[in-house]
Amino acid sequence: MPEFPERIKLERGELRLVISSEKIAERVEALGGMISEAHPAGDLTVIGVLKGGVNFMADLIRTITVPMNIDFVRLARYGDETESSREVRITKDIEIDIRGRDVIVVDDIYDTGMTLRFLVDRLSTLGAKSVKVCVLINKKERRTESFEADYRGFEVGEGFVVGYGLDYKEGYRNLPGIYMLHED
Ligand code: IMP
Ligand code: MG
Repeated sequence: MPEFPERIKLERGELRLVISSEKIAERVEALGGMISEAHPAGDLTVIGVLKGGVNFMADLIRTITVPMNIDFVRLARYGDETESSREVRITKDIEIDIRGRDVIVVDDIYDTGMTLRFLVDRLSTLGAKSVKVCVLINKKERRTESFEADYRGFEVGEGFVVGYGLDYKEGYRNLPGIYMLHED
């Protein structure tokens, strides 16, 4: 694997490593173990949220030892990127039948909770037996929804993080670790 620096200079700021790829790998394996144990019957469907959930999803499913299938969704917020733009819409839907299946939604970060709340409701109406949420990063500060993710990798406080799927203006998704954005 190529080496990535712990600090990455930006035009007006810096990215600083906060969770290494080794720590992520360890935690992902633990989460995969918990998921496998909770689903011995193997009626499991793992749904990745594009694009941010892709890195986590790819690593996580390789640590799940029970039979399972996968699919992807892509979601977008209506209107601008402000916090008041509350409408979520699906721009790419699932393509497999999830009726009677235990579904786990995999995403990069749980922030306000709005996006995943919407998705969980929708997957339930499609007839899933159960719908759970698995996120790599749990960010509590801006939570507006009352429900929590079922499987959580790491807790992060205030601040904006990138890497391992998470982007800043579509960049940095390829970084193997999680970095905090520090602006000058
Ligand atoms: P929410 O939980 O509905 O507010 O939306 C979560 C989405 O917001 C994530 O899937 C990310 O796309 C984005 N997001 C929230 N916080 C961050 C962050 O710190 N870095 C990168 N993206 C973030
Ligand atoms: Mg996202």
